[in-house]
Amino acid sequence: MGLAFKIVTAFILLSFVSADFRLTISLTSLTVNGKLPNGDPCSPFVNLGVLCFPRPKICIEPLEYATDDMDQCVIGSYIDLGVGNNSNEITFNADAYYGGWYNPSTYNFFGDFTGFSVKMIIWNADGTNYQEIDRHQWNLTNSDSSPVTETGDQITSFKFEWSKQVITQPTAPPTIPTTTASGGITTAPPLLTDCKSITAASTQLIKIGGASVSVYCDGKGGTAIQRRIDATGAFDSMEISNYKAFIGDATKSYWLGLDNIHTFTTGSTAYTAVITTCCGTTPLVENYETFTVGDATSNYLLTVTPASNTYQLVKTGINTAKTDNGSPFSTYNNWNLNGVDVGICASAKGAGGWWFGSCENNLNGHYYTVGVDANTCAFDAASHFGDNGTGISYPVGISFQKTQIALYQKTTFRNIDINAAAQDFCG
Ligand SMILES: *[C@@H]1O[C@H](CO)[C@@H](O)[C@H](O)[C@H]1NC(C)=O
Ligand SMILES: *[C@@H]1O[C@H](CO)[C@@H](O)[C@H](O)[C@H]1NC(C)=O
Ligand SMILES: *[C@@H]1O[C@H](CO)[C@@H](O)[C@H](O)[C@H]1NC(C)=O
Repeated sequence: MGLAFKIVTAFILLSFVSADFRLTISLTSLTVNGKLPNGDPCSPFVNLGVLCFPRPKICIEPLEYATDDMDQCVIGSYIDLGVGNNSNEITFNADAYYGGWYNPSTYNFFGDFTGFSVKMIIWNADGTNYQEIDRHQWNLTNSDSSPVTETGDQITSFKFEWSKQVITQPTAPPTIPTTTASGGITTAPPLLTDCKSITAASTQLIKIGGASVSVYCDGKGGTAIQRRIDATGAFDSMEISNYKAFIGDATKSYWLGLDNIHTFTTGSTAYTAVITTCCGTTPLVENYETFTVGDATSNYLLTVTPASNTYQLVKTGINTAKTDNGSPFSTYNNWNLNGVDVGICASAKGAGGWWFGSCENNLNGHYYTVGVDANTCAFDAASHFGDNGTGISYPVGISFQKTQIALYQKTTFRNIDINAAAQDFCG
């Protein structure tokens, strides 16, 4: 994947600019023409009045990050707007959620405004069968004004309004927009570098070094750097180059990327890490007072200070005296030697990259949707799933249904009840 390269490129660009901007996008309506690209109606029962069930997903990117690759949303991930109800039109109201999209949504971008890109892919959601209706990208530059009606190949129309505000850091009064192309935008949250100030669980765009990245905020001040809640994300069989960059979907399951994690954990703000794993609704929580990941030259070495010496990242393995703490990051085809023989490292086989030291843990392992005991999370890797590795193991032999690594500023952390937060996460 070219993601790491793109972020590096953007960083170089951004080092020469002074202004940041905030984009507010308010969706108005999406009208489809009732047909799939081959001309068939969305529904074979159109004569009985059954229309489309349009399910759009949307990606908003600053123009200098955008590519014409419709399958990639460079700054993070596509947002799934959910399914429209038996209609060829979706009307978007203000102050309402549509799937993972809050209308209107605000994005903070870094650098001078040159325009932004809107990518939209629309399926017809016929039960579990998704057929694409249309995909289209619109590049909107400074000269565009609001409201905007855009027309795609198959789409009748897509209407939205947008406005931008230039932000001059750090002293600009946030309530005075420099440019306003539509009304109603009066308040402005500060630029974010983490989720400390976010009080509702949500996906937010934050700034990590020179990059803008979508992350999941737990609503208690925590910024998730890794999150597995479903089978989203091609974690399996990924290589180091993939793990350097963002994997997955910030609204669901994702890995923030080694370079982002390195920048995040080695900046001037001190973070404590909470690792939560869920077996059914039962959480297991570990709190690490420090959690840092080195740069590429160290092979992204993991260094943690555990609140208890019984925690997984500082435990030695059955077959090795090493721990994940102090280990470099490895994937199945890129074994960064730490004196550990890959042959005895069950957790490294099959899927997912990790700091394999003890060879007992792999939170990026294969997501098993079948065969894991819902109460104990135990599974029989040898007889059933050997080829796919040990699952989301912590330790090996257990494959969890959910896991999250969240970072909290140390001051925030004192005020949260991590057991209550873990219970919320596990449901
Ligand atoms: C939009 O802009 C990006 C970045 O400049 C470019 O790669 C892409 O081809 C453009 N797409 C369209 C449809 O204009
Ligand atoms: C879909 O719209 C119809 C007609 O307005 C309504 O009767 C039905 O309850 C709606 N279904 C859902 C799932 O919202
Ligand atoms: C193992 O992985 C393969 C693809 O690599 C997949 O088709 C299969 O469903 C997986 N098995 C389980 C039990 O998850």
